[in-house]
Amino acid sequence: MLPIAYAWLSLLIIALLGPGRAEVHGQSPKTRPLELILLQDKEGTCDILALRNTQHVRGLRQGGVHAKTLPTQFGGQRVSLVAYDQRALWASAQSQCANTLSGDIPHEQALGPQDGPQQPMAPRVVDFAVRAPQLQIAPLVQSGDPSNRVDLVFFADGYTADEHAKFLQDAQRLADDISYNQTFNTVKPLLNFWAAFTPSKESGIGVGGKPKDTAFGLYRDGTELRGVYYSKPDVVQAACLSMGDACDYAILMGNDPLYGGLGGEFTVITPSLANGPPVLRHELGHSIIDVGEEYDGDFGYFGVNAAQNLSTPVPWAHWLTPSATDSAAQAVRSERAVMPLQTYAWTMLNTSTPWSTNFTSSGLYARHLVRFSLSGLPQAKDLSVRLDGEDLGWVPKPGIGVDRWHYDIYRDEGLAGGAHEVKFTLKEGKREGVAQLCSVEIVEFGDETQFNSTPGHYSMYPTFNYYNETSYRPTNEDCLMRLTPTPNFCKVCIEGLWMSLLRRVDLIDDVATACSTNAASGTVDFSADLLLVPLAGYRADVVASRESYTIMWTKDGETLHEYTNKTRLAVEGADADAVYAVNVTFTTDEVRVDKDGLLTSHRRIALSEIC
Ligand SMILES: *[C@@H]1O[C@H](CO)[C@@H](O)[C@H](O)[C@H]1NC(C)=O
Ligand SMILES: *[C@@H]1O[C@H](CO)[C@@H](O)[C@H](O)[C@H]1NC(C)=O
Ligand SMILES: *[C@@H]1O[C@H](CO)[C@@H](O)[C@H](O)[C@H]1NC(C)=O
Ligand SMILES: *[C@@H]1O[C@H](CO)[C@@H](O)[C@H](O)[C@H]1NC(C)=O
Ligand SMILES: *[C@@H]1O[C@H](CO)[C@@H](O)[C@H](O)[C@H]1NC(C)=O
Ligand SMILES: *[C@@H]1O[C@H](CO)[C@@H](O)[C@H](O)[C@H]1NC(C)=O
Ligand SMILES: *[C@@H]1O[C@H](CO)[C@@H](O)[C@H](O)[C@H]1NC(C)=O
Repeated sequence: MLPIAYAWLSLLIIALLGPGRAEVHGQSPKTRPLELILLQDKEGTCDILALRNTQHVRGLRQGGVHAKTLPTQFGGQRVSLVAYDQRALWASAQSQCANTLSGDIPHEQALGPQDGPQQPMAPRVVDFAVRAPQLQIAPLVQSGDPSNRVDLVFFADGYTADEHAKFLQDAQRLADDISYNQTFNTVKPLLNFWAAFTPSKESGIGVGGKPKDTAFGLYRDGTELRGVYYSKPDVVQAACLSMGDACDYAILMGNDPLYGGLGGEFTVITPSLANGPPVLRHELGHSIIDVGEEYDGDFGYFGVNAAQNLSTPVPWAHWLTPSATDSAAQAVRSERAVMPLQTYAWTMLNTSTPWSTNFTSSGLYARHLVRFSLSGLPQAKDLSVRLDGEDLGWVPKPGIGVDRWHYDIYRDEGLAGGAHEVKFTLKEGKREGVAQLCSVEIVEFGDETQFNSTPGHYSMYPTFNYYNETSYRPTNEDCLMRLTPTPNFCKVCIEGLWMSLLRRVDLIDDVATACSTNAASGTVDFSADLLLVPLAGYRADVVASRESYTIMWTKDGETLHEYTNKTRLAVEGADADAVYAVNVTFTTDEVRVDKDGLLTSHRRIALSEIC
């Protein structure tokens, strides 16, 4: 459990919020909701990390609370609660936490008695800049003002002052990799990427559970390539919070060339050429889209890409092939597969005793897959991988060196019923201490009529958890949440990504208005210019998906047809009390269902208020 890490150093009281309206006459939504950030331990006890004004949450009504949780490294979670209504925010926090919160806020007189504030909570700005490390901030990929974007920040760990340029190169390479032509490419206009440099006294990251003298104290548990952990969460929190709207997700990049990382409250990565991008994409998928795993053998399967059973309608009914408008019974079938073996071995290999394990096949499946991941094995002659004594002909990914990689060996034949053995034999003694078997899995499939393995086919694919319980995912291997080396999400996750991002990003960046009143007639000449998030026709670069903006202007509720799809409305001689409005609707073939109306933005322009 984390202690309260900060004194409330600078208590700058901001004007109390007005009513929580998302629209303010002709301007971008300027009314900022309150965010309460809690750190909650495994027992449910909360500490308050911050209470601040924050970027809008779209679709959030007066009295509503938007909650987002991310797991911390310590088995607890960070909870962000956002609301316009302070009492709703407080009530939600109290119901979330096992302890009473009011007593835990230092120097907080405004809160009143324990059952909740009698007085509205005064929003306070804690000067996190005082607690944050020195940060040299540089833009990497920019699309707009942070108050209407989702901002991802790379923080430097284990880069010395002399390695500032290397940090910028590593961060730029990763930002480009995940946004230039794949993964986050289509949503790039909703994102900003930043690099925030803090020099570390020592270069590299710690091993054996011992951090080096670095900005955030990153380390590996042993020497093996696996998780990378942080030892200074309070410093990361202060660094990110000190950037305000410009830090929605903190990415800690440890200066180490090999595989490693962690998801959750902060994404931890290394700039490994082979593994940096896959780990970053995958962990951001968890934290931004708020989905669990799609690969087998884990514990958490939730979010838009997970169904617990075959009950209809299935969550991605609108993406199924054939679509749900055809025979629903036909569409919702479980693709036929079974997982007779799955283990995270995480074992160092030696030449004296091979690592082997046995599993049992029912003998009822037409095909199978041997899937495993290895590190510390740069050459084919270093290792043999055998199934029932037969060498599977493993060869390392070219150029992988000692880094970790995933291997799939598909075999278009059935396994006989009964016991089988899979064996990893280290043949090269000098690899001992480095050579590692990370994971191994066997999956058996029905033939193509029973298990459709075609990329782009959307159905119900069984995923087997740690306890071999079944849930379902939308595609076989289209998604990087299942197959980490692939660069893209499936369509279901991409739709979820749009929804998550458009919760925090309004399609209208701004409406610039100008007006003058005609003294003689009392009428008004005015203009309104829409500044839209650069999607559809306003994109800087071409994307494969089809998109459009539809713009509708009204005056006192009547559609102004001549202005449809125009970003500029200019009127002479308008009534001084007329009310104009604009609706902007974005369509993309990456979103088929928008139940919360996040693809439409609305502004009201009352001339009496702007003139
Ligand atoms: C994206 O660009 C990289 C680097 O140029 C290239 O390797 C990759 O194949 C491209 N991906 C797509 C989907 O075009
Ligand atoms: C099926 O799973 C959903 C969640 O995915 C759950 O709400 C529902 O109760 C489950 N139905 C049955 C019959 O178990
Ligand atoms: C999982 O359950 C299936 C069906 O009962 C069984 O065939 C398979 O061997 C089990 N796998 C493991 C790893 O226990
Ligand atoms: C060698 O590896 C095998 C299989 O993982 C293991 O059982 C054994 O303890 C290891 N031997 C040594 C000396 O590390
Ligand atoms: C696996 O099965 C083989 C052949 O039956 C046997 O020799 C071996 O000891 C078994 N290995 C394990 C780890 O149980
Ligand atoms: C406005 O744009 C939308 C999207 O491109 C298009 O479908 C519609 O026909 C346009 N309307 C007019 C009146 O141009
Ligand atoms: C504009 O959007 C609002 C809110 O989404 C909706 O109530 C209204 O009917 C829309 N008007 C037009 C002309 O589309």
